[in-house]
Amino acid sequence: MKPDFYFVRGLILGCFMVVACLPFSAVAMVESCSTADCHADLNDIEFSHMPVADGDCTACHEQVTEQHPAQTGSSFQLVEAGAKLCYQCHDKYGRKLTVHAPVAEGDCLSCHDPHGSNQGPKLLPTDHDLTALCSNCHDSAMFTEAFGHGPAVAGACTQCHNPHEANQLGLLAKAPQQLCTGCHADIAEGLANAPIIHTAVKDSSCTACHNPHSAPAAKLLSQEIEAVCMECHGDVGRKAKKAKVKHAALYRPEKCSTCHAAHFSQHAALLAQPEQDVCLSCHGQDDYSRSKPLKNIAKDIAGKSHLHGPLQDGQCSACHDPHGSDNTRMLTGPYPASFYHPYTTGCYDFCLQCHDKNLLRFEQTTIYTDFRNGKQNLHYLHVANKYKGRSCRACHEPHAANLEKLMSEEGADFGDWKIPTRFVKTATGGSCSPGCHQTFEYDRENPVDYQK
Ligand code: HEC
Ligand code: HEC
Ligand code: HEC
Ligand code: HEC
Ligand code: HEC
Ligand code: HEC
Ligand code: HEC
Ligand code: HEC
Ligand code: HEC
Ligand code: HEC
Ligand code: HEC
Ligand code: HEC
Ligand code: HEC
Repeated sequence: MKPDFYFVRGLILGCFMVVACLPFSAVAMVESCSTADCHADLNDIEFSHMPVADGDCTACHEQVTEQHPAQTGSSFQLVEAGAKLCYQCHDKYGRKLTVHAPVAEGDCLSCHDPHGSNQGPKLLPTDHDLTALCSNCHDSAMFTEAFGHGPAVAGACTQCHNPHEANQLGLLAKAPQQLCTGCHADIAEGLANAPIIHTAVKDSSCTACHNPHSAPAAKLLSQEIEAVCMECHGDVGRKAKKAKVKHAALYRPEKCSTCHAAHFSQHAALLAQPEQDVCLSCHGQDDYSRSKPLKNIAKDIAGKSHLHGPLQDGQCSACHDPHGSDNTRMLTGPYPASFYHPYTTGCYDFCLQCHDKNLLRFEQTTIYTDFRNGKQNLHYLHVANKYKGRSCRACHEPHAANLEKLMSEEGADFGDWKIPTRFVKTATGGSCSPGCHQTFEYDRENPVDYQK
């Protein structure tokens, strides 16, 4: 130990004690360490750390050589190493579930300038955009994918992350869902009030589908929308792809969201509108690209006095699989596509999933159908005829009709012609005079004798 060191230290300590008793001690210290010649840059930092502004240099620095400035090396050392230096005055971090690695390692200076900053508050090298600072250690690629999220792209990382520690995984400031709905109030409201909530949204965090920072697909989706849905609904996707009759509605750019809401809905199956409105939004118009356009179903049912049961209940999907199927017209069961198709077991199962299975099985019956003459089953006669069995469409409308029993007024397509049924119902039977044959009557109680 050199004597002049003790002298210098004594002098400093002496001055310090005198100065400490003065009302303007802070000013005095600043003047002593950062003057026009020495450490002038610390004098006019725009956002100074308070002890620096106060000139309390020795809160952090202590002189270790008698000379200052020293010829070689440093004449000062920090009074404590790492975070301990800061914890002299600040509360300790490290008690919460997740502690940010540099904080745990006491590397406060990887983000903070101990003296202050000219760019902004909090001793940070920036006033708002933290991207550059954080990207010193983190891969900035996660912020620069094609579709950016406002707060992340703006570098407002601390809107979502605590920089030091948090009681959530990922240093999140709040529980994952609250974090997102804190800003997205419309979604918070929907989740609180809508009767149907997507289980995926209820049970997983928003990041099951969205990237928080930036994403390769629109709406911050982590993949193209269809792939997002397939992650959990692979069965629907596989079925749609394999289906012999595919639904063109699934292959528009909106994909699944053409019909489904992603988060919540007022309607069953997360449909964006009541089911029939969804379907009729497209099937309520004539102009499809096919050479033979599909019927306008809205026109088909508007004003009709008899709606087929499921339609009355607001459904289309009871009969059509909206995602496609192996059956004609995407029906939910087998149904022949042609005018003639003799009954064989199974081939009319589409209708028979809801109607009596025995409708077509017995030549004679008194219970399975009202379309009979005495006991003679006229459904059997018309449909089960081995040579020229007629499909149900020869007589019935699938959706709606003005005639009772969904009997077809206009009739089915037969080449370029339509065969009307001219059906008239009576209390115990009825009559038809279709384009197929002369007028025939049938009567369940007093059977007509067709031999006469
Ligand atoms: C809150 C603690 C703290 C206070 C108060 C403080 N410093 Fe520092 N200072 C540090 C730390 C920590 C470093 C080391 C920085 C590094 O390693 O990057 C440092 C480094 C320095 C250096 C080395 C060069 C540089 O800028 O990195 C000088 C000179 C310095 N301080 C001067 C002062 C003066 C003069 C004051 C009072 C006006 C002061 N410091 C107040 C913590 C402080
Ligand atoms: C001698 C006491 C002391 C030490 C040591 C100290 N600070 Fe501070 N720090 C303060 C005071 C006082 C404030 C002002 C608090 C306030 O405004 O409420 C402050 C404020 C801050 C702020 C907020 C600045 C702002 O603009 O709001 C940050 C960040 C900070 N300190 C970081 C550090 C870091 C990092 C260290 C260690 C390198 C450290 N402090 C060491 C006393 C200290
Ligand atoms: C990864 C960067 C990073 C590290 C490492 C870091 N901080 Fe911070 N710190 C920040 C940011 C960013 C803010 C501003 C937070 C805000 O604006 O909400 C901040 C704010 C602060 C504040 C002001 C009070 C507050 O919470 O807003 C103090 C005090 C502070 N830090 C102390 C420390 C100490 C002590 C350490 C080391 C143990 C440390 N910081 C390590 C980034 C960091
Ligand atoms: C000095 C380097 C450094 C800086 C600067 C830094 N980080 Fe980190 N950060 C790390 C390390 C190391 C990890 C741990 C990585 C790991 O476990 O794979 C980490 C982890 C994280 C995690 C994940 C925590 C978890 O438990 O999953 C988040 C979030 C994070 N940092 C956010 C930030 C933000 C925001 C900033 C800027 C304010 C930032 N980091 C700046 C080094 C840093
Ligand atoms: C809108 C909220 C939000 C903003 C803003 C935000 N993050 Fe994140 N960040 C998250 C969420 C949520 C996660 C967790 C993702 C998960 O569940 O894996 C995350 C994860 C991370 C991770 C861990 C990544 C990993 O793969 O483990 C890092 C690092 C990170 N964020 C850094 C940042 C940085 C740096 C910024 C600012 C440029 C930022 N974040 C802005 C919400 C946000
Ligand atoms: C700090 C507020 C804030 C937080 C927290 C936040 N967001 Fe955002 N988010 C925004 C803003 C601002 C926009 C842009 C709004 C606009 O353009 O209408 C946005 C837009 C979005 C978009 C639509 C992007 C587009 O292309 O239309 C999605 C999706 C999104 N946020 C999801 C999330 C998720 C998921 C979380 C939680 C990890 C989250 N947000 C947390 C502020 C926030
Ligand atoms: C099951 C996947 C999934 C989950 C989980 C999910 N989203 Fe979405 N989100 C989507 C899809 C798909 C879209 C795009 C919908 C569209 O284009 O019609 C979307 C769109 C958005 C949009 C922009 C459009 C709008 O409706 O305002 C925001 C904001 C959003 N989501 C926020 C959130 C938040 C917050 C959460 C968590 C509470 C969340 N999402 C959970 C799939 C999801
Ligand atoms: C993280 C997994 C996950 C993802 C991703 C996901 N879902 Fe779901 N979804 C579920 C679960 C779980 C259920 C409930 C399943 C059940 O009840 O059988 C569900 C139910 C549904 C239902 C039926 C709702 C009802 O009330 O009947 C529909 C429709 C649906 N999802 C559509 C979608 C669409 C469209 C997407 C893509 C935007 C999607 N899902 C993405 C998990 C997911
Ligand atoms: C044309 C409109 C439409 C499109 C496009 C559509 N759906 Fe559906 N989806 C429906 C209707 C209507 C229902 C309810 C009736 C039913 O259960 O079949 C439904 C039911 C569901 C269900 C619940 C019942 C089940 O079958 O598991 C899931 C899951 C589902 N859809 C997923 C998807 C996915 C994934 C896509 C995109 C590949 C998609 N949907 C595209 C109309 C559609
Ligand atoms: C976004 C428009 C759109 C919506 C919504 C829509 N469809 Fe379609 N649908 C189409 C198109 C386009 C075709 C193919 C028409 C063509 O090729 O002429 C089609 C074909 C059909 C077919 C005939 C399939 C065939 O190839 O024979 C049926 C049946 C059908 N849709 C029923 C429905 C039902 C039921 C719903 C409601 C769950 C629905 N559609 C919703 C656009 C839509
Ligand atoms: C009770 C069962 C049933 C219900 C409910 C039903 N359909 Fe159908 N639909 C059929 C049958 C059967 C066919 C086939 C008719 C044929 O080929 O003769 C068909 C045919 C179609 C076709 C093709 C029409 C054409 O050009 O020949 C479309 C489009 C269609 N339905 C849409 C709908 C829509 C939209 C709804 C709801 C508003 C709906 N269907 C409800 C049974 C039903
Ligand atoms: C998803 C179930 C379902 C399917 C499939 C179905 N129907 Fe129906 N049908 C009903 C319901 C429900 C009613 C009304 C209740 C009743 O009278 O039995 C009804 C009524 C009828 C009626 C009028 C009966 C009456 O007493 O007024 C006829 C005719 C009919 N359906 C024919 C058919 C034909 C033909 C098919 C096949 C192309 C078919 N249905 C497919 C459910 C179905
Ligand atoms: C030749 C015309 C014709 C054909 C073909 C036809 N039906 Fe009918 N169907 C009728 C008549 C007429 C009635 C009304 C009987 C009555 O109430 O007097 C009827 C009634 C019904 C009823 C009401 C219950 C009952 O049996 O009385 C159902 C269900 C039905 N038909 C289903 C079908 C199905 C399914 C097919 C095809 C497999 C079919 N029909 C084919 C003429 C026909």
